[in-house]
Amino acid sequence: MADNNNVLGNHDSTQEEMMNEMCLLVNKMDEVIGTKSKLDCHYGIGDRHRAFSVVLFDESGKMIVQQRSNDKITFPSVWANTCCSHPLDMISENTQDLQGVINAAIRKLEHELGIPSKVTKQWNFNLVGKFEYSCRWDDEWIEREIDHVLVVQANTDVDLNRNEIEKVLWLDESEINEMMLGTGKWENEVIAPWFRMIWEHYLKPNYPNIPMILGSKSNEIIDCGELVISSNNVPNNSLQEALMVHKNKVEDEIMESLSKMEQVRLHGAMTHLFSGGGKRYRAILPRLVGEAVGNANKGHYTLGASIEIIHNFTLIHDDIIDQDPIRRGLDAVHVAYDDATAINAGDAMLAVGFEILAESKDISGKNLRYLVTAIGEMVRRVAEGQQEDIEFEDREIVTEDDYIAMIAGKTSAMFETCARTGAILSDASTDIVKNMAKWGLNLGLCFQLMDDLIDITGDTKTLGKPAGSDIVQGKMTLIAIHAKDSGLELPNFNKVFGKLKCDDLSLKLAVEDLQKSGSIEYARNKAMYHHEIAHECLNKLDQNPQVDVLRELTDLQLTRIN
Ligand code: IPE
Ligand code: IPE
Ligand code: MG
Ligand code: MG
Ligand code: MG
Repeated sequence: MADNNNVLGNHDSTQEEMMNEMCLLVNKMDEVIGTKSKLDCHYGIGDRHRAFSVVLFDESGKMIVQQRSNDKITFPSVWANTCCSHPLDMISENTQDLQGVINAAIRKLEHELGIPSKVTKQWNFNLVGKFEYSCRWDDEWIEREIDHVLVVQANTDVDLNRNEIEKVLWLDESEINEMMLGTGKWENEVIAPWFRMIWEHYLKPNYPNIPMILGSKSNEIIDCGELVISSNNVPNNSLQEALMVHKNKVEDEIMESLSKMEQVRLHGAMTHLFSGGGKRYRAILPRLVGEAVGNANKGHYTLGASIEIIHNFTLIHDDIIDQDPIRRGLDAVHVAYDDATAINAGDAMLAVGFEILAESKDISGKNLRYLVTAIGEMVRRVAEGQQEDIEFEDREIVTEDDYIAMIAGKTSAMFETCARTGAILSDASTDIVKNMAKWGLNLGLCFQLMDDLIDITGDTKTLGKPAGSDIVQGKMTLIAIHAKDSGLELPNFNKVFGKLKCDDLSLKLAVEDLQKSGSIEYARNKAMYHHEIAHECLNKLDQNPQVDVLRELTDLQLTRIN
């Protein structure tokens, strides 16, 4: 039996409490054969239990869907049907007839959506069928249930319990189609696998004819087998889904780690950038690598949190170095606070990055020694790269090799370390560790070459940092090196390069010069060269869908706009 105190970690306390509820274990025929806590039914390999899903249409035919709250332990932030939960081991719900399931639905519609039971008792709950499935959420949590699908048509107000539900939407026919196709605003959202099954098997065949849906009934318990979180009919978004699944976990770990700082203003400065945008690549990379090479575990999240916190420390100091006032669409830390606080916040974050590794129960002593060495080396290489970046501004001759060596330090060292240490935590072989490090290095080079490119071709709003900063600072990016070596006059470029300020029009004209000289194309080709090497590394791995996620991440670098 799983020990509640040991496994739950840092989850929401109300949700943890509910893990003690007793669910009904069932056999393949949906006959009750025992009871088990909600925790034991959903942890590890889980155990088959009874569940229900309510699908509520209003009188106009719109379907209410809910986004699960971020506090949920299983499937947080995922979009699902109106309400789903489990009948419990209580007299009113532990029955072999349908009434037990309906009573559970009445209880949860009140608890989650605030619809009073005196209202729902009047409703006509139509059991349209049952299906069995399992779906793993992560290496700890799983859903494994026989779901009773109850369809109702009624108009109602809702009063949401925010601990359960982030939001609800009333969707019409075209919006439901869009949701299930994963297009438009649904592109980055995850649809619950059970909701997809309900849609495919019980709703879609008769939709939008609601009376037909209400009147349909299948006596078979459809076996849907093992479902995956990735949405079957949504192509090319497995990276988005992986990012979403892991982001919440690392984010919690980051915030928890930074809460070590009790000094209020300093804590504010340390957490400031996390409230802006940010792609969290370095937070998630170790875990993605762990999944691709096998044996992903909780330690990968702590590792990601550590490197992301250290990355954010370097950003705070970088914006002082580069005198940039905006980061992730917010005032940079040295602007929102002051230089002294920003420097101090960075220092403390570097320390926290190491502390959380040393404190982790999920990282063995041997691996910890490796990680501390690797991350120490990483920070040193970043500092070297940053120093070169600064010195290049006043150096007479900077070559392409100098530039590549500089970005290998300031940027790629972090990507390389995420990949290398991610593989180490998976106990991968030396060859695989080396191969992943090479992938990370080339991914990072491609990333920075493209980052320099979008620095001049993007706009401040999209970038979340000042567009054209490199040009006005006189940064020797590969684009600038190529332009200077071209022997062409490039008056618009020379007018703003290193001149500390420039308006939008002058920047636009300078970019036109850099296009004419072929400098932008040259840098893009270099990015593509490293993109290619990165792919070659991935081709060497044993192939699985998680390796495809790394491929998507590699490709994204050539098309990203922020
Ligand atoms: C910014 O990195 C620093 C560079 C190395 C260019 P990112 O562009 O990954 O920054 P966030 O974390 O997404 O804000
Ligand atoms: C920043 O490089 C690298 C580190 C923070 C270590 P840049 O100065 O090019 O990054 P941006 O463009 O400000 O994000
Ligand atoms: Mg810089
Ligand atoms: Mg900078
Ligand atoms: Mg830059």
